[in-house]
This record gives sequence, C-alpha cells and structure tokens, in this order.
Amino acid sequence: MEAMKITESERWLLSFYRVSEINGAQFFGRLAKNMKDKKIQYDLTKHFADESQHAWLWTKCLGDLNMDPINVMESYQDQYVAAVGLPTNMMEVLAITQVFERRVIGQYGVHRGLKDINPYVAATLDLIMEDEKWHIEWITQSLKEMETKFTKEVVISTLKKYHEADQAVYEKTLKEHGEHLKELMDKKAFKAW
Ligand SMILES: [Fe+2]
Ligand SMILES: [Fe+2]
Repeated sequence: MEAMKITESERWLLSFYRVSEINGAQFFGRLAKNMKDKKIQYDLTKHFADESQHAWLWTKCLGDLNMDPINVMESYQDQYVAAVGLPTNMMEVLAITQVFERRVIGQYGVHRGLKDINPYVAATLDLIMEDEKWHIEWITQSLKEMETKFTKEVVISTLKKYHEADQAVYEKTLKEHGEHLKELMDKKAFKAW
C-alpha cells in the first residue's frame, strides 16, 4: 500500500481515537483484575486486550503514515466521568460502556464511509470495527442478565441517563474540536456501503 498523506485534522482525530482506546484499555484492565463474577471477568479481560490492541493499531497506522501521535490530553471517557460521575456498580459500568461503544462504532463507521479514505486508515478501521461489534454484543447480553438483580426499569433509566450524557459530551467535543471533525462531518459524499 502506498502511504498517501492524511491532513493534520485527520492526524488529530486518529490521535484522539488512540487516546480513547488507551483509556478504555486502562479502565477495563483495572476492572478485570479483581472482578468477582468470573464470567464477566473472562469477557472483560478479552475486552481490555482488544482495546490495548486498538491503541497499538492507531499508533502503528500513524507510524505507517510517517506521523507521530499528537498528545491529546482529554479523552472522551474522561468527559463522561466529569458529566455523570464514576459508575458505582457493575450494571452502571456496563451501561456507560454500552453507550460509549455505540458512539465509537458510529464514529468509526462515519469515518470508514468517507470517500477517498486513506487505505491505511480504512484497513485499521476495518480491523477495529470487527472487535467493536463483539464488545457491544457481550455487554448487551450481560446487561440483560443484570435485569434480574436491578430490574429492567432501572437498567433502562441508567442507559437513558448515560445516553443523554453522551449526547452532551459529543456536542461539547464538536464545539471544542470542531475544526478537526468538521472536515470529516462536512463530507456529504459518503460511499454507499
Ligand atoms: Fe476499541
Ligand atoms: Fe470497544
């Protein structure tokens, strides 16, 4: 593959993805360490390993394009915590993660749909999105099982609370880093796929 150049805005975005993946890996890694529920521990450990791999894939992608990552200080997840506080039980952890994973796969999907996408970026997105699908699957399944303990109503209202926080954080991100995302969002010429 020939390394076509990417813009500085896209470099910023890939760096932002990289930091978000690192944060995800650290978050799940910490949780997986001493998780009591062994079934959840099994999946969380795989989830943590995937997010670490994704951080590496973005780092490698930038390297293949002869670029270093930009130091992005604040990740998307940090802002969730600032908006709604730390989750206090496993159901809340799963709920916040499900909302976040949907946001990630949505964003990666939009990016993947760009016309004239750089082949290195496309290949990286394809690899990562395959794993992200499984992340949503196991979390949805585990959340369903949480309904017995927490009731369906509580699970739904928790998801709603995090969904609203996600919406607010996304709008804030657009406002603050709009110049980087604008280029991506403005391209109406998405490929049909
Ligand atoms: Fe990921
Ligand atoms: Fe993920």
